[in-house]
Amino acid sequence: MAEKNKCGQDCVQLSEIDVFIDKLEQQGSLEGKLIAILHKAQEILGYLPEEVQSHIARRLSLPPAKVYGVVSFYSYFSMIPKGKYVINVCMGTACFVVGADKILEEFEKQLGIKAGQTTPDRQFSLYALRCVGACGLAPVVVINEKMHGKVTLKDVSRIIDEYKEGDGR
Ligand code: FES
Repeated sequence: MAEKNKCGQDCVQLSEIDVFIDKLEQQGSLEGKLIAILHKAQEILGYLPEEVQSHIARRLSLPPAKVYGVVSFYSYFSMIPKGKYVINVCMGTACFVVGADKILEEFEKQLGIKAGQTTPDRQFSLYALRCVGACGLAPVVVINEKMHGKVTLKDVSRIIDEYKEGDGR
C-alpha cells in the first residue's frame, strides 16, 4: 500500500497498461503484440519514458534494448513528454508551396523552440507533419484535434495566444 502511495499517478497509469496487456494475454500469446502495447502505453501516458519501456519489456519477457529499438525506430513514439497543445504544421507539397516552411519558422520563433521540441512550461510541442489530407485549406496547422486552414504569418501569434488563454478556439 505504501508503495502505491509513493508512486501515485504513475502507478495508476502503469496498472492501466497492465490491464491492457492482461487482456491481450487472455486472447492468446503476447508474441508480436509489442507495437500494439506501446501504442496503448503512449495513448495513456502521452510518451514512453524509460521505466515504462522496461516495465513492458519485463511483462513481455523481452530484452529492454529490443523495446528501446522499436520505440526509437518509429517516429510516432516519443520518449519525451509532449506539451498540453501539440502543434503540427503540415509540410506536404500543397502546404509547402504556399509557405508552410515560413509558418513553421514563425511558430519556432514565437515559441522559442525548434520543431520536435516542447516549451519548458510544457504548454506547446511543435512538429512538422506530412500531408494531413486537407490540401484545399493549405497551409494547414493542426493543434491537438483541431484544424486551422489558410494560416498566414500574422495568424501565428493570434493562434498561440488563443491556446495560451486556454480556450483553444
Ligand atoms: S499538403 Fe498540407 S494538407 Fe495536404
